[in-house]
Amino acid sequence: STVLVLNGPNLGRLGSREPDVYGSADLDQLRSTLAQAAPAGMTVDVRQTDDEAELIHWLYEAVDERIPVILNPAAFTHYSYALRDAAALVTKAGVTLVEVHLSNPHARETFRHTSVVSAVATGVIAGFGFDSYRLALDFIARSVPRVS
Ligand code: DQA
Repeated sequence: STVLVLNGPNLGRLGSREPDVYGSADLDQLRSTLAQAAPAGMTVDVRQTDDEAELIHWLYEAVDERIPVILNPAAFTHYSYALRDAAALVTKAGVTLVEVHLSNPHARETFRHTSVVSAVATGVIAGFGFDSYRLALDFIARSVPRVS
């Protein structure tokens, strides 16, 4: 089985972008961390885009192929109703979508306290750096029926 790990705008700069907030490890390191954490037979497909349309189309792929999603919508979290509607398609189809954040947005600026995605996500994990993704992956690994 496959898990889609979708990352929104500016997360391509992970490692050099505000390392005090987001850590000094980059997306490739996230990729290898998750590949190691994944149970045998599970493929972790880590993607990043700055493009809202591309992110939405990846969510359609998750719906059509019934692939569970770990989504860090980055700044889109706070204002993209288009992304929210696409995320709702995923969970309404009965496919798991876990919203994750590296930082704890609630401990930061007021504009980050609102997520327009959370209400349509299966659940939310925030504030644990890469472990936010690992915890989401653990949940998916335990809830997705294994095909081996
Ligand atoms: C983030 C938090 C968002 O507020 C911010 O815009 C990001 C990253 C996080 O992972 O902590 O780009 O989603």
